[in-house]
Amino acid sequence: MARPAPIRLAVLGAGRIGQVQARAIAANPGARLVAVADALPEAAAHGAAVAGVEAIAADPRVDAVAICTLTDTHADLIERFARAGKAVFCEKPVDPDAGRVRACLEVVRACGVPLMVGCNRRFDPHFRALKAAIDAGRIGRIEQVAITSRDPAPLPAEYVARSGGLFRDMTIHDVDMARFLLGEAVVSGHAVASALVDPGLRASGEVDTATVVMVAESGTQVVISNARRAVYGHDQRIEVAGSKGMVAAENQRAADIVIADAQGCHAPPLLDVFMTRCTAADAAEIAAFLEAVATGAPVSPGGEDGLAALVLAEAARASLASGGPVAVRA
Ligand SMILES: NC(=O)c1ccc[n+]([C@@H]2O[C@H](COP(=O)([O-])OP(=O)(O)OC[C@H]3O[C@@H](n4cnc5c(N)ncnc54)[C@H](O)[C@@H]3O)[C@@H](O)[C@H]2O)c1
Repeated sequence: MARPAPIRLAVLGAGRIGQVQARAIAANPGARLVAVADALPEAAAHGAAVAGVEAIAADPRVDAVAICTLTDTHADLIERFARAGKAVFCEKPVDPDAGRVRACLEVVRACGVPLMVGCNRRFDPHFRALKAAIDAGRIGRIEQVAITSRDPAPLPAEYVARSGGLFRDMTIHDVDMARFLLGEAVVSGHAVASALVDPGLRASGEVDTATVVMVAESGTQVVISNARRAVYGHDQRIEVAGSKGMVAAENQRAADIVIADAQGCHAPPLLDVFMTRCTAADAAEIAAFLEAVATGAPVSPGGEDGLAALVLAEAARASLASGGPVAVRA
């Protein structure tokens, strides 16, 4: 049987995540990377032409786009490409403002194109195995979830200013993971946060270190620890305790060995930034998008999942401002 024609994709924004996605697309036999809308040589080296956003929107040879530009450009670009009839993958969040996201999702619905939102932790093979164990009933009913997510180092000031802040840029991954694991609505959120890594952020009200406690409808509790500094690597762990046991996904290393000597037991460093820790997740994420576009199956996570995660991130912000727990439903 003949193989279906590859989906022809363009990547918009070839910065940190755009280069990861360009590589994932170039390596996927179900895809062809036809254009990149950012003149970074590493992305172009995958054989793609460098083109402008408007040229890509007008190009009938482009079936789909992966939007990897800075956050405050996403909603306009999603609408531009939805109106051009392209299938859209967009990095999280769709926009820092939930009202703007709702308006954008209306446009996408009216255009009838798929929109997948880049919540890539859902595709991490270790977190997927953890979810599979929960779904198989191995730990019984979920009672407590602890999610640790720390970046190795702070991000550039321009990125931070255009990102929507810690909750909408970083915590959003973890609240999405909580929704993914819980399978039920979160009904309250309480956040504490400070600028401990870069006290210079305090003047603008931005924070870089946060703890968020959320409660789901059944009473299940979720604790999220976030920080923009982890000198030991990209700290990404999840522990879920249930009525019959516990399942945990630990940090990853390039080589899983322990060297024992008279000074103690030593392990190689953790995988550092998300570009190495999340490579497998990003490849699986793009593969899921391509599969949905090729078969017409619904994309997951879609726009509504992206919106729900943003609503929870906004609840964390509201809690920080009010100093107490806030009611939410997402
Ligand atoms: N899923 C994840 O794990 C993950 C990780 C990092 C970033 N992100 C998201 O991806 C987005 C990009 O983050 P990044 O770290 O790659 O940022 P970055 O600053 O490294 O790259 C952004 C790139 O977009 C380009 N750009 C900006 N506006 C553009 C426009 N209008 N048209 C074309 N190119 C444009 C910039 O020139 C830059 O090269 C952010 O929204 C962020 O939230 C997701």
